[in-house]
Amino acid sequence: MAQRVEIILFGLGNVGSCVLKQLAAAAQNHLLRYNLEFSLAAVADSNGYVANIPLNAVNALVQHKQAKKALADYSNGKKLNSALDLVQNLSNPSSTIVIDCSATESTIPALLRAMQSGAAITMANKKPLSSNYSNWLEFTAAPRIHRLRYESTVGAGSPFITVCNRLIAANDKINKIQGTFSGTLGFVMSGLERGESYSNIVQKAFKLGYTEPDPRDDLSGKDVARKALILARTIGYKLEMDDIKIEPLYPTQFESLNVEQFLGRLGELDEQYAQKREEAKNNNQVLRYVAKIEQNTITVGLQALSQNTPIGRLQGTENMVEFYTEIYGEKPLVVQGAGAGGEITAAGVIADCIELAGVLKSSP
Ligand SMILES: NC(=O)c1ccc[n+]([C@@H]2O[C@H](COP(=O)([O-])OP(=O)(O)OC[C@H]3O[C@@H](n4cnc5c(N)ncnc54)[C@H](OP(=O)(O)O)[C@@H]3O)[C@@H](O)[C@H]2O)c1
Repeated sequence: MAQRVEIILFGLGNVGSCVLKQLAAAAQNHLLRYNLEFSLAAVADSNGYVANIPLNAVNALVQHKQAKKALADYSNGKKLNSALDLVQNLSNPSSTIVIDCSATESTIPALLRAMQSGAAITMANKKPLSSNYSNWLEFTAAPRIHRLRYESTVGAGSPFITVCNRLIAANDKINKIQGTFSGTLGFVMSGLERGESYSNIVQKAFKLGYTEPDPRDDLSGKDVARKALILARTIGYKLEMDDIKIEPLYPTQFESLNVEQFLGRLGELDEQYAQKREEAKNNNQVLRYVAKIEQNTITVGLQALSQNTPIGRLQGTENMVEFYTEIYGEKPLVVQGAGAGGEITAAGVIADCIELAGVLKSSP
């Protein structure tokens, strides 16, 4: 008989929708390859949920949400006060995976409750694991750490966390991790390198939809810092967000502007960034927006790197992580891949679910 695993999904935005469609599309493959059947116990958005959705009906649910309608207004949708209500009394926790594709810290109590009752969890949402360190400890306490996956919190579906965990499993000592964790900032850096002005390249990224609706959400470096914090905590650093030195790509006086004013005043920064680019170029270096995790500290900001390093050669929106370890020696282990996109992020979540189903199956 096939193993049956129930899914509860928080968040039906870009990533959550791709997760549902990929689950439905892969159902036959999951059965043939893993003898595994996923069923959808519940899907929730910020104030409602739908229960027991057949996999062949996910498209209708996704279309409903894409039409900007709430899940509570779906045919058998119900209001939901809190995500916690959905996991309070799980009927079959040891066969349940809770997926967090929301973008809020308010799912933390529900995720912890689910884990405590024996369910497995995976998340694309960075906020739970980059919130207070005490939450990190709760999520990763042994033995339930085996029922936790979070590949898509860092670098979308590209396997940065998996590689990191394999190095840890092999007892290799990780001395430094250096990476670029923002497709948007990669795009900006490549444009600068080609000689474009800072204002021009940021405005282009904004028009192409590469930035968040407020580009400062990318340019502040906070999102990169969250990802770096998750990787740093994974290798044992006991740090909080406030411990991270972050260099934003705009001055503090630009914080109070609205988006239009902000974009309009970017030209004031052109000379400063052109100068940094030329200084780097004169030393055969290029500018990259880098997170560095080393000696129990994290720094996030602009770095001038040799064009001959893996990150120096990186172009466009791709992300890269270099792991400097005892065993790998001077040549880092390098992982490169897309760092954003609903489909890629969802693929990381699905792969996590397959792994977690295996863990649940072998749990006593
Ligand atoms: N997009 C990417 O490329 C990418 C890559 C890596 C990681 N991520 C992360 O993946 C997550 C999802 O991204 P996204 O682009 O899909 O975001 P999104 O389009 O903004 O969707 C977020 C969803 O979360 C729901 N939500 C909010 N509060 C909730 C709650 N308390 N309980 C349940 N659902 C709740 C929202 O519901 P309403 O519709 O009711 O507001 C919405 O459906 C984010 O944390 C993001 O940082 C995204």
